[in-house]
Amino acid sequence: MKLIVTDQAGVVHELEALEGWRAMEVIRDWGLNIKAECGGACSCATCHVYVDPNWADRLHPPTEEEENMLDSAADATEESRLSCQIIMTDELDGLELTLAPSAAKDEAAA
Ligand code: FES
Repeated sequence: MKLIVTDQAGVVHELEALEGWRAMEVIRDWGLNIKAECGGACSCATCHVYVDPNWADRLHPPTEEEENMLDSAADATEESRLSCQIIMTDELDGLELTLAPSAAKDEAAA
């Protein structure tokens, strides 16, 4: 299955993903610019992505924990999600995400 990710520079990457993986893990393992500091524990917000509006309804709604973390991200919008909370399933084959500036490893330098 595929995960389509636009990075902070606007470059689109088509990543091969595996069912059951977190979107964050796929993005990180392909070497894109994602910090994901807490490793998927929903406690850092540095795996912040924007979900393409065509896909938003197909994701499970965010938990309160996720919403609280997103509230701490200065660049959060209505399309924001934490990519470590998105588990890849068949229905999400082709999911389109954009990496938020605050997810960058070198945000301070960006
Ligand atoms: S990796 Fe830390 S909240 Fe997702």
